[in-house]
Amino acid sequence: MKSVIIFDSVYGCTKQVAEALADELNRNGCEALLCSLKDSKPESVDCDYLFLGSPTRFGKPTRRMRKFLDTFDLSNFSGTAIAFDTIMQIPENDSNREKMKAKYIDDGSAPTIKSALTQKGIHVSDKVLRVEVSGLKGPLVDNALDAAKEFVNELISH
Ligand SMILES: Cc1cc2nc3c(=O)[nH]c(=O)nc-3n(C[C@H](O)[C@H](O)[C@H](O)COP(=O)(O)O)c2cc1C
Repeated sequence: MKSVIIFDSVYGCTKQVAEALADELNRNGCEALLCSLKDSKPESVDCDYLFLGSPTRFGKPTRRMRKFLDTFDLSNFSGTAIAFDTIMQIPENDSNREKMKAKYIDDGSAPTIKSALTQKGIHVSDKVLRVEVSGLKGPLVDNALDAAKEFVNELISH
């Protein structure tokens, strides 16, 4: 099995998630290739699992990820694509929680990536991975990377 993890990251949190996904995939014998859109574009996405992740910023993926989704040809991809993102944590007791969630999180990066991939007609996992950060620029919340690893284990056990 092979996987490719394509991600963007401004402050490094989404990168940490991407690396945790890669570690867990490799640990389970599913060779993982990381590709940061800051540095390059993937040469090929010939793999079983294609992860695409970006921080949610202003309710959507980064410009680099949006451009990638708009321009990269995935028509030959025959595996399963999976969307992930990082999002801000809104305290449970915040009186504006529901409004903030609806405006900045619910339709954020991972759901947007998922629907862009679905529109390309490829097979997309129903489940997306959403990982919280505790401040606007991070860091990741406690146990974030464990949750990412658990997500991988669930995915590949099916
Ligand atoms: C300018 C700006 C806008 C942001 N907008 C959102 C947002 O709309 N929704 C959200 O959940 N988080 C938002 N955040 C928090 C980001 O999700 C957070 O910076 C990101 O998860 C960190 O990931 P990175 O380190 O990979 O860049 C915003 C952060 C910044 C700096």
